[in-house]
Amino acid sequence: MTDSNTNGHIVGLYPLIKLLSDGRFYSGEHLGEQLQISRAAVWKKIRKLESLGLPCHSVRGKGYRLENSIQLLDAARLAQIVDDELGEHNLEIDLRAQVDSTNDLALDAARGGQSSGYTCLAEQQLSGRGRLGRNWVSPFARNIYLSMLWRFPAGARSLEGLSLAIGVAVVRALEKSSLSGLALKWPNDVLLNGEKLAGILLEMHGDSSGQCSVVIGVGVNVDMPQSAGVAIAQPWTDLGRHLSNVDRNKIAGSLLAEIYRSVQMFSESGFLPHKSAWEKYDGFFGERVSILLGEKELIGRAAGISDRGEFCLDIDGELRHFGGGEISVRKCL
Ligand code: BTN
Repeated sequence: MTDSNTNGHIVGLYPLIKLLSDGRFYSGEHLGEQLQISRAAVWKKIRKLESLGLPCHSVRGKGYRLENSIQLLDAARLAQIVDDELGEHNLEIDLRAQVDSTNDLALDAARGGQSSGYTCLAEQQLSGRGRLGRNWVSPFARNIYLSMLWRFPAGARSLEGLSLAIGVAVVRALEKSSLSGLALKWPNDVLLNGEKLAGILLEMHGDSSGQCSVVIGVGVNVDMPQSAGVAIAQPWTDLGRHLSNVDRNKIAGSLLAEIYRSVQMFSESGFLPHKSAWEKYDGFFGERVSILLGEKELIGRAAGISDRGEFCLDIDGELRHFGGGEISVRKCL
């Protein structure tokens, strides 16, 4: 685990958070010994934790404890899950405490010459990005934020449908924890009973006609605090509302393995092998929908996807295809 120095919030606090993560009491003396700092310095750090949304109890004679225990991501456990699921692989895990955006880190890694499979995960994003210029709400140690780098020698054209294939991979990973009611909304929003559970943002680096790299950013709401969720401008949900005892490491490990598998298969065989799986989870098929193309709105019936992963809209019997770009699809009420 590396601390990122983005704006100083986490630097120096992460080791203390790790010691306190189980929610039990630890004396200032013990914490000071472990961290090799004075008791006064421990107290100062405890106060800073509040600003991260991690309130602490302090009780004379007992010490300090986090008001709520937290489950931190654990790089060794993630690596073990990935090894068990994939066998041989080139997935490289870079776990950070706090970053601006994991996509930024993976894009930097692309510029720095890292190979396919480099993956950054973070406990918190200060400027998490969503599609269509939105923010992605990314509180500390609650959800999953990850970005995987993949290199494509044949340029942007060979990427058609990749974002849909990743949507399928995310659904597959989440289904391993016995969730039902998962569906996909074109191109790749993951919905649970109609509410947004996870989002995917693909960003490209390099030459669109030649060698290029793609960063596959995935965010999954695991245990979104209500106080943070108010900033989300659409109906949302998280795993905690639907499952008991969610193991964030297990979910993240399965996501890494499924995304890796999927992008590897995609780079060899393109979108077609993923199409029927996407159709199986199509949450909008046959529904009356409106699609927004910038200022323009079109209304019709959702008619599935093309072999290239484009959205098909039936407008009064005329079938139109919409690919890539910044379009958003909504069910008509
Ligand atoms: C969406 O709007 O649905 C896409 C959301 C993508 C969020 C993830 S979280 C990890 C990665 N880093 C980012 O800044 N965004 C993506």
